[in-house]
Amino acid sequence: MIHLQEFSPEDDQEKLDFLEEADLEARGFNIVGAFEKASTVEQMRAKIKELKDSADHNPYERRFYWVLEDNHPIGVITLRPALNEFWLHNAGHIGIAIDKPFRGHGYGTEAFKRMCEIASNEYGIKEIITMALPDNTTSRSMIEKSGGEYWDTVVASDSEKLARYRIKTKT
Ligand SMILES: CC(C)(COP(=O)(O)OP(=O)(O)OC[C@H]1O[C@@H](n2cnc3c(N)ncnc32)[C@H](O)[C@@H]1OP(=O)(O)O)[C@@H](O)C(=O)NCCC(=O)NCCS
Repeated sequence: MIHLQEFSPEDDQEKLDFLEEADLEARGFNIVGAFEKASTVEQMRAKIKELKDSADHNPYERRFYWVLEDNHPIGVITLRPALNEFWLHNAGHIGIAIDKPFRGHGYGTEAFKRMCEIASNEYGIKEIITMALPDNTTSRSMIEKSGGEYWDTVVASDSEKLARYRIKTKT
């Protein structure tokens, strides 16, 4: 069973190895690109603390969560608790990447649904906005199975078209 755990300054070598080795590209960007320069556990922990402090003070910053299967990392999912005009057209509230060997087993959908619950229960988000490249059928299917309703298609700042979805939560 999948569970989500927020990045913590106590995360260990297994997590660093995962950050270094996993394929976590979404839309041509490494979802954990912020950790590129972390090559020791101490550097990773310092970066986690820096990003967490920043997110604690600024709801437009991403919060990072491990997607864990049997307590081992298989992916990363992010939550941006608030959106401004830029993020409304470029990313939305949730970003996710499951490492390649673990894709296609339902883990992405399970993790995405769990993140929607956290967004609703812990951050009081009433309507989650999320987006996918129009031809990313896996991502679109994951969003739709999580309650996503197609909203429209927007052009992001890098000229890429993005299909936007809205998910009403229980909040
Ligand atoms: C998108 C992503 C997170 C989905 O995770 P996942 O664990 O592979 O997804 P699931 O196993 O839950 O599958 C979701 C749907 O895609 C389908 N699917 C999975 N792998 C597929 C493949 N290789 N080809 C076509 N469809 C596929 C599944 O069948 C399922 O749809 P269905 O239930 O209607 O059949 C994962 O593919 C990924 O990390 N991709 C790269 C990063 C990315 O694109 N992130 C999303 C940005 S918005």
